Amino acid sequence: MSENGKRFTVLVTDPIDREGLKPLQDHPGLELRVELSPAAEKLTSLLTDTNAWLVRSETKVTAQWLEKAPALRIIGRAGVGVDNIDVAGASRRGIAVINAPQANTIAACEHTWGLLLSLSRNIPQADSDMKQGKWDRARWMGTELQGKTLGVVGLGRIGREVAKRAVAFGMRVVAHDPYISTEQARGIGATLMPLPGLLGESDYITLHVPGGAQTKGLINDATIGQVKAGARIVNCARGELIEEKTLVEAIKSGRLGGAALDVFTKEPLAADSPLRGLPNVILTPHLGASTTEAQRKVAEELSKGILEFFERGLARYALNLPGFDPETLEQIGPFLELGEKLGAFVGQMLDAGLKEVRTVFHGDFEERHRHPVSVAALKGVLTSILAQGVGFINAPILARERGIKTTDEIDPSILEGYSRLLDVIAVTDKGEISVSGAIISHAPRIVRLGDLVVDVRPKGRMIVLENQDRPGMIGQVGTLLGGRGVNISDMRVGRHAPKQKAVMVLLVDEDVPGDVLRELGQISGITGVRWVRL
Ligand code: NAD
Ligand code: MLT
Repeated sequence: MSENGKRFTVLVTDPIDREGLKPLQDHPGLELRVELSPAAEKLTSLLTDTNAWLVRSETKVTAQWLEKAPALRIIGRAGVGVDNIDVAGASRRGIAVINAPQANTIAACEHTWGLLLSLSRNIPQADSDMKQGKWDRARWMGTELQGKTLGVVGLGRIGREVAKRAVAFGMRVVAHDPYISTEQARGIGATLMPLPGLLGESDYITLHVPGGAQTKGLINDATIGQVKAGARIVNCARGELIEEKTLVEAIKSGRLGGAALDVFTKEPLAADSPLRGLPNVILTPHLGASTTEAQRKVAEELSKGILEFFERGLARYALNLPGFDPETLEQIGPFLELGEKLGAFVGQMLDAGLKEVRTVFHGDFEERHRHPVSVAALKGVLTSILAQGVGFINAPILARERGIKTTDEIDPSILEGYSRLLDVIAVTDKGEISVSGAIISHAPRIVRLGDLVVDVRPKGRMIVLENQDRPGMIGQVGTLLGGRGVNISDMRVGRHAPKQKAVMVLLVDEDVPGDVLRELGQISGITGVRWVRL
């Protein structure tokens, strides 16, 4: 277990349950160093010989810190979201990233219910009054949950548990999750509907989607206008899902009847945040996963993963490293990357319940290489839609759990002059979304979107526009983006023939705000706008 006679060092920089970390503490081959929230200078010195780094959400494992950790081999995230870790940067350095995705599902679900009940009965506000010596029964009149509609946005692990418990409260449950099928939702007792419908019908709205470019600002100036007057909203997922300024205004104007927030755009929440001054807003400091049981389980899961990694060199549940042998990796490495990129692209183009992910291999792919490439494509698709982190090992399991079929097909004929061409196709409730790619000059390239030929490097930030080809279209798009300060670094167009269906892929230098994407969608002739980040 030791490297050159030295013990492996495991650094812990966020509060993680000590009892759960005992297997690491007690192991003679490991040195556990717990240094919570170290100052930059201290962290720099600690990282010089750290082999494993364990964090919760407070520590940001950025490229800058990875550079200072030459001996780092594995990062463990005590929880679900890995949005505080530069996973791509870690992959480039061959550092495995593991997490503990299931251990805090119930804790987060129960905290959500705590917030829902607090919102309906004003429990924290009444408690605060009592502590100040008051006895005001009239001020804190509540409302009942029974007979009300709960809108669950995101029917993943936590959303499902929340939905199941709503049935016991006699609530009607509606849900929005574009990536699960109607039957799956029905099985949980929820009726699926598009987001505007859910917002308009729900008395209580609860958010359970991943953070990231696709969901950032889900509740914004435009969507708040769709919310039923007086509805109450709970966010126990990620702060960035709600534009805080919009929320404050909606509460002040009475458009929203109340809000309960466990997570914030910037944590810790600023001491002078306007949210703190609103009586019908309930705030908790990111406590969703903070139960003794969840924290114990999270720490135990991580300890197991770290021990297995050091004892057997295995990161079975790594989110970023496939467990293939070096020879296979060398041969199919580029196709694994291509499969994953195509999958991630398709995942971000989805607009309806996902039923199947199909991979089609055109040309001379070896039989034994097909399965890993299909799994890479599936991993790419699921990574775009799930919060929990998807690895090569758990991708097929997650797909099965969500009722998504996975298939691969071989077509030995050579297509369009490419000796090897890969299609990744998502079959959804509405139809098929397909993207094809090849390896060109040792690098992945997207060569077809649906039936339109394109030539796009699958890297960076992109706006994908479906449009009717017509004069002036490119100019209008360019003018709008230029006016909003968005720099276009490259642009690719695919079309069958003049004035027919076309696609534009614009590579841009920075994130594009949701309202700018919505404005693009209003240009006459544009039929679809998607934001894709690869
Ligand atoms: P999950 O991956 O199991 O589920 C996410 C669900 O969201 C999936 O079903 C996915 O299909 C759906 N989804 C993705 N994009 C969507 C969109 N645009 N609209 C609607 N649905 C969409 O994740 P989970 O484990 O249930 O976690 C849910 C959230 O809770 C995550 O943001 C996670 O980071 C957060 N979380 C917070 C705490 C806390 O302490 N407050 C604790 C655990 C998890
Ligand atoms: C998570 O993603 O697991 C949560 O935000 C919980 C946490 O980190 O405390």
